[in-house]
Amino acid sequence: MEIIIKRDALSGSQAAARVIARLVREKPTAVIGLATGSTPLMLYNELIRMHREEGLDFSRVTTFNLDEYVGLPPDHAQSYHRFMWDNLFRHINIVPENANIPDGMAKNIPAFCAVYEQAIVRAGGIDLQVLGIGSDGHVGFNEPTSSFASRTRIKTLTRQTVADNARFFGGDEAKVPHHCITMGIGTIMDARMNLMLAFGENKAEAVAATVEGPVASIMPASILQHHPAAKLFIDEAAASRLKLTDYYRWVYDGKPSWQKDA
Ligand code: GLP
Repeated sequence: MEIIIKRDALSGSQAAARVIARLVREKPTAVIGLATGSTPLMLYNELIRMHREEGLDFSRVTTFNLDEYVGLPPDHAQSYHRFMWDNLFRHINIVPENANIPDGMAKNIPAFCAVYEQAIVRAGGIDLQVLGIGSDGHVGFNEPTSSFASRTRIKTLTRQTVADNARFFGGDEAKVPHHCITMGIGTIMDARMNLMLAFGENKAEAVAATVEGPVASIMPASILQHHPAAKLFIDEAAASRLKLTDYYRWVYDGKPSWQKDA
């Protein structure tokens, strides 16, 4: 895993955006996996700026979102559909049919999940997957003890995740759906590159366990230790519990210029 420690969330997000922009310029038909939550908001703002000011072209890009709440219609204020359209899609030139998000209203959820997996394969697989991390180490909505071989499926949120996400539902935990559809860890591991962002002190413990702890399903993000191309963009606060920070900075500062895409 490549650990990139930036001064703050903004510079970490801008660095991550540069990796995505480079991919899109080199491969205009790139397939990008996207995440929700508060973490990627600055990244999406930077992509929107690059689209507006630098002509970054998403017209041939295909996207697949990680997850969606079960039972929320796409126009629900807290659905991940709404989140993606409000915070990214409507501000760039993506073709709506190319923006895929799990359907939380699907009548036959297992059938829908199988079709979602097939659509990713048909698109050529995910070139780059954006990830956040839950305070319990979840990726997408793959909660602790999710199988490392899992594919897109229904999951039940932990009480901690329900509590963490209640802030988006007016602080009312009762309004947070308990079920979701999420890409599996196996799906995420198939992406050719994984780009995880984590900012703030409340992510420091999960980040340390992900990077320096044992690979274990109790800490789902730790599977990224087995990914051949995983980059972790963190700020000083999220890096605060890591043991080898000096080494990560030494590696990053000493990278040959041709490797410095962020
Ligand atoms: C949510 C999402 C994840 C996200 C995580 C962290 O529940 N399903 O994809 O990474 O929790 O959220 P935040 O970025 O708001 O801290």
